[in-house]
Amino acid sequence: MKKTSRKQLIAYKNPTSPVSEQFKTIRTSIDFSAIDSAFQTILVTSPEVGSGKSTIAANLAIVYAQQGKKTLLIDGDLRKPTVHKTFSKNMFCGLSSVLTDQIDLHEACQNTEVPNLSILTSGAIPPNPNEMLSSNKMTLILEELKQEYDLIIIDTPPVTIVSDALVIAQEVDGVILAVRYGVTLKDRIKQAVEQIGMTRTPIIGTVLNGVSEKKSNYYYYAYK
Ligand SMILES: Nc1ncnc2c1ncn2[C@@H]1O[C@H](COP(=O)(O)OP(=O)(O)O)[C@@H](O)[C@H]1O
Ligand SMILES: [Mg+2]
Repeated sequence: MKKTSRKQLIAYKNPTSPVSEQFKTIRTSIDFSAIDSAFQTILVTSPEVGSGKSTIAANLAIVYAQQGKKTLLIDGDLRKPTVHKTFSKNMFCGLSSVLTDQIDLHEACQNTEVPNLSILTSGAIPPNPNEMLSSNKMTLILEELKQEYDLIIIDTPPVTIVSDALVIAQEVDGVILAVRYGVTLKDRIKQAVEQIGMTRTPIIGTVLNGVSEKKSNYYYYAYK
């Protein structure tokens, strides 16, 4: 199997590092914030580009898989997909291929070198991501995957730029907002929170990425 990116998959490559510990803490915080039943579908988005959404989504998926949960990471960023790169897989034969009936859903979900973790890559970049993600077929796909996986994490584009994440947010149990420390503007965060609020899906946490109080401190989870 091809090598995965060490930096991006830190929770797998270096499970005892402080950053990996922080991802486990985030997992615990998410689990504790579930009141009636555990979150099965979690969407990761951010107010703007480059907030570390994809890194957070991939590492969260890894720490859930390490807990023994059958986990699926979906690349719902059909504009700038990166999940295939992170796991050194082919981008094609992914979500857009399933949505356009080119491939069977189960064939499209690929195993990774991380035990218990599968990925559904983006597939070819479509001209109409928003229409695809808001289709009935997308709802059916998620329903089918929920029968099969204990936990599904969906990486998406930034929420204030395109509405793709909002469309999928309506279908999930909770949203994680990735914010880049010292970079994301307050107004952008407010706008993102308002937009997600309209979907009625709860924001189950905000991950403040890039905090450097101590030299190895990257992630901070703000409990909501
Ligand atoms: N805490 C961090 N410290 C340093 N680099 C980071 C951190 N989080 C993410 N990065 C890097 O920043 C870039 C953008 O991150 P990514 O997770 O792809 O963001 P997004 O999906 O929000 O665009 C990547 O090269 C990633 O490795
Ligand atoms: Mg990304």
